[in-house]
Amino acid sequence: MKTLREFNLKGKRILVRCDFNVPLGEQGDILDDFRIRQSIPTIEYLTKERAKVILMSHLDRPGGKVIEKLRLIPIQDKLMEYLDLSVVKAPDCLGKEIERWSHQMKNGEILLLENLRFHKEEEENEEGFAKELAKLGDIYINDAFGVSHRNHASVVGVPKFLPSGAGFLLEKEIKVLTGLMEKPKKPLVAIIGGKKVETKTKLIDKISEIADFILIGGLIKKEIKEKNIQLRYHSKIIEPSDSIEGKDIGPQTIKNFKEKINLAKTIFWSGPLGKIEEVKFQMGSKTIAQTIINSGAFSVIGGGETVEFVNQSGLIEKFNHASTGGGAMIAFISGEKIPGIEVLK
Ligand code: 3PG
Repeated sequence: MKTLREFNLKGKRILVRCDFNVPLGEQGDILDDFRIRQSIPTIEYLTKERAKVILMSHLDRPGGKVIEKLRLIPIQDKLMEYLDLSVVKAPDCLGKEIERWSHQMKNGEILLLENLRFHKEEEENEEGFAKELAKLGDIYINDAFGVSHRNHASVVGVPKFLPSGAGFLLEKEIKVLTGLMEKPKKPLVAIIGGKKVETKTKLIDKISEIADFILIGGLIKKEIKEKNIQLRYHSKIIEPSDSIEGKDIGPQTIKNFKEKINLAKTIFWSGPLGKIEEVKFQMGSKTIAQTIINSGAFSVIGGGETVEFVNQSGLIEKFNHASTGGGAMIAFISGEKIPGIEVLK
């Protein structure tokens, strides 16, 4: 897989697939900008190398039609804030006019295309659509780890038509997550919370092959029982032994979990341990976050909710790696082939 540094970028139109799919509030305000911040090093590098930078992303799931509140205007504002540079936004993500713009850009300029998912062809991975997108660049860079598990036109279609490679964020995600799975310092403790255990069974089974203990949250425990889910390494699973109103892990569980975490040299955490939407059920997740940090173990966290929570608690920089992937990270750790990465190989 080629990486950014291997390309001659000066004066070239670099079409960068980013994942700017961030949570938005009622007023269209960005509730958590972690993914945008993580995209900055690639964009800065491209501008310094005097490339013409063309950024593309989806936002939410507009279902193939224009939804005004899902335009990328808040993303444009946030990018300008972080880059301290002007970012021009196109009214659409493709077409003759935008193709002309792309040729008129000066070196170092940045153009942000409109939400890719306003066109149903994006999710359908329609070839003609991918070809049209490809006309906007001379080189394609994937820096969108978070969406690399999707077979969408901007992820797997465009790189078929352009010289392609990985941006810094994608490169970092692959390096850290591969290292975690292939040569973790032991003991390795995995903490899996959240809900929808059926989407995590493969993840739990796969990480159990290398982990010494898997600490699970209350909802996962409940679902395993109710749905009679059979895990391959049940003996490694440590379940909660008490709870706060069934919505957070209780003090005895926190004590047990802390003991295991303090043994670890590597920790992987995905999924909150309580109903963190309510402040009174955040204690378990907060204490576990702090315990991981204090343990000094190499720490990797991931999953939208977990990263958002840790970010809002002001602790994100204290973890060795916070993945920008939700489903993508689960798929990667589960050992699945990630189409957006495969196509770059
Ligand atoms: C994510 O948020 O996990 C990615 O941006 C992919 O979004 P999607 O689940 O809507 O495809």
